[in-house]
Amino acid sequence: MQMLASAPIKLLLVEDNPGDARLVQIMLRETGGFRLTCAASLAEARQSLLDSPPDAILLDLSLPDCQGMDTVDAIRKAAPQAPVVIFTGLNDEAVGLRAMQHGCQDYLVKGQGDGNLIRRTVVYAIERKAVDEERRGNAEQLKRVLLQTVRAVSLTLEMRDPYTAGHQRRVAQLALMIGTHMGLSDIQLEGLHTGALIHDIGKINVPSDFLSRPGKLSPAAFAVIRQHSADGFEIVQDIEFPWPVAKMILQHHERMDGTGYPHGIGGDDIIIEARILAVADVVEAISSHRPYRPALGIDVALDEIKRHSGTHFDPMVVAACLEVIEKVGDPFKAE
Ligand SMILES: [Fe+2]
Repeated sequence: MQMLASAPIKLLLVEDNPGDARLVQIMLRETGGFRLTCAASLAEARQSLLDSPPDAILLDLSLPDCQGMDTVDAIRKAAPQAPVVIFTGLNDEAVGLRAMQHGCQDYLVKGQGDGNLIRRTVVYAIERKAVDEERRGNAEQLKRVLLQTVRAVSLTLEMRDPYTAGHQRRVAQLALMIGTHMGLSDIQLEGLHTGALIHDIGKINVPSDFLSRPGKLSPAAFAVIRQHSADGFEIVQDIEFPWPVAKMILQHHERMDGTGYPHGIGGDDIIIEARILAVADVVEAISSHRPYRPALGIDVALDEIKRHSGTHFDPMVVAACLEVIEKVGDPFKAE
């Protein structure tokens, strides 16, 4: 912002009415501190943005070659980084507010105020745009760091248990494909992906030789393994994810008919993300190699979910999984 105190502000005025443009020119010359460029149409404005990017844009909404919010959208597309102040002849606050929803920083009504008001509004718009950009950048970085952390946790577990290396990542990939096919919202899909990446995190509490032991497990060892979904829930329940990740982990071994664990709940009591996770988990586990058996392949996996559709698994999820795999083939083949 120091630049504003010393250098003049490069302002692009987009205004087709020569009288209005002249008035702004005179007012800003009196106020000082501006280097003004004028454009009388959207085409001229676009050219000017290419020739010399401004610090801010003062924009009339009705131009010979564009009108209303289309003007806003066109200018924002041509110069996404530039702060935009709407310059409108309509004494209509709703237009100004709508323009702000379309990404403009502020609005001015023609014939009201003087050069100082324009200057203040433009300076404030530049500052607000800078703050908005910084905030957006920070939010995006935070989101990236969250995903990287979740991946690191996922990898930590799989390093300890090499027989399931890549299991969570592959389950996440298939779950995402099923969820997308079922039309889940973007936010639900983000949560599904995140939950799937760490769905077996509770296995950190299972002795590693239980996980890698070939042959049948004793009922006691099996009981310890079954504890992993509740343990996983306990590990993540205090993380304020914007998605139901803890529930997904807790419920991924629940079954539609109530024969699953840990709580034996069924039907809609199991959240949709966990119902998808259950199918993706079983398909991946059966298709892949395990310490106690070789890989059985995708066809055996699909037979298994078909056979238990409606009893263990949500029939809608099973149908979506079959359709997706029908379309793309073996989802794990590339690995
Ligand atoms: Fe599991």
